[in-house]
Amino acid sequence: MGKAGGTAKKAETEHTVTLTDNATGKSVDLPVHAATEGPSVIDIRTLYKETGMFTYDPGFTSTGSCESALTFIDGDEGVLLHRGYSIEELAEQSDFMEVSYLLVFGDLPNKEEKAKFVHDITYHSMVHEQMLNFFRGFRRDAHPMAIMVGVVGALSSFYHDSTDINDERQRMIASYRMIAKMPTIAAMAYKYSVGQPFIYPSNELDYAGNFLRMTFAVPAEDYEVNPILARAMDRILILHADHEQNASTSTVRLAGSSGANPFACIAAGIASLWGPAHGGANEAVLNMLEEIGHKDNIPEYLKRAKDKDDPFRLMGFGHRVYKNYDPRAAVLRESAHEVLEELGVKDTPLLELAMELEKIALEDAYFVEKKLFPNVDFYSGIILQAMGFPKSMFTVLFAVARTVGWISQWKEMIEDPVLKIGRPRQLYTGPERRKYVPLDKR
Ligand code: SDX
Repeated sequence: MGKAGGTAKKAETEHTVTLTDNATGKSVDLPVHAATEGPSVIDIRTLYKETGMFTYDPGFTSTGSCESALTFIDGDEGVLLHRGYSIEELAEQSDFMEVSYLLVFGDLPNKEEKAKFVHDITYHSMVHEQMLNFFRGFRRDAHPMAIMVGVVGALSSFYHDSTDINDERQRMIASYRMIAKMPTIAAMAYKYSVGQPFIYPSNELDYAGNFLRMTFAVPAEDYEVNPILARAMDRILILHADHEQNASTSTVRLAGSSGANPFACIAAGIASLWGPAHGGANEAVLNMLEEIGHKDNIPEYLKRAKDKDDPFRLMGFGHRVYKNYDPRAAVLRESAHEVLEELGVKDTPLLELAMELEKIALEDAYFVEKKLFPNVDFYSGIILQAMGFPKSMFTVLFAVARTVGWISQWKEMIEDPVLKIGRPRQLYTGPERRKYVPLDKR
């Protein structure tokens, strides 16, 4: 197993803030903890005990749910760091296995550590042969994300020797199994949906190349991995690996806080990622671009996106944290041109439409004022479609990449001495206590 490392600094009290209830004049001092980078936090753990009141923050727009050393995002500046390294440098100079090691263990590996990690992941990439039976139970037109939720959750019925979360070795084996098996299961979900035979992993190929081969090879002919596409795939995986406490990561943490096994927690994360407001947006962007169809229709759709009474949103735009250009979108926009050129495809009409839509939206007062910029999902689908993936596989790929982030966040939580089961409270506005009325009196 790789070395445990990382330079997590425990939160220290920097100063206090005083909260005064103007109705009673009662005050309470709350500690403020400093961050390595970014906003400090007000520690409200004693608030209920001291005031008898809860905080109220639907959607957690101003709430820090945990302390973490994995990923830092500065939404105003469009900065994304993994263990201190910028996403731009990692996308340009690193590879997905190295970034996975960095997220799991906290530091970039040296040559021996990297070779051992890649070997260990490679040799966990097959799934138990009996798992193939699961696929037969799905309708053949099942959405691959439905298959992913089901099959990944079922991993816990095969790997009992790595479900004891209190055993460090079992946590590591489960982590390696998840990272290693997700591409295999994802490719199987695709093969099942197109009625082709499953292709087993090859230990001769790297992570991204192996995934492309398991997805697109057929037994009837040899398959040669295109190194440019494999590099593009690897970069897409890096860009989607982790992203602080987003909805699906928070789902994994909340599920894990009850002591649920890691496979079940990752299945919960996949379920949350599927939503079109989150990881499902990459598929929704392609549907939107196909619906818009031509740049002459852009003004009508922008009008709809601004209309409060119209549920239409400009998919791939906006972000809870980024109020600037998502740095991942910028890398993907460059990658889109590279992949299309490699495929000998001039900029596809969809890419041209996407770039025209981006240009017009970024000049539109509504989008400027609300700081709505393209996010990671805006360009990813265009690249994936050009590589041959159907839209239904886009969020599956997001899940394959994000598994290392989910697993690393889960591991950090389990190893946090402050681990408590997540149990938020509420603002109750339901009926006051009332007497039961027997049926014959209603
Ligand atoms: C991902 O959290 C993460 O880090 C997620 C992610 C990750 O890596 O894990 O980055 C991956 O999920 C990226 C986001 C993909 N989703 C989409 O592209 C779907 C379209 N975007 C929106 O649904 C929205 O922008 C969200 C969900 C992404 C963010 O929503 P918020 O933070 O709750 O913001 P909001 O909905 O309150 O929007 C603020 C305002 C609102 O107007 P007002 O009510 O203030 O008048 O901006 C408007 C919104 O109506 N708005 C949009 C819009 N996004 C926000 N208007 C039109 N089109 C949009 N896309």
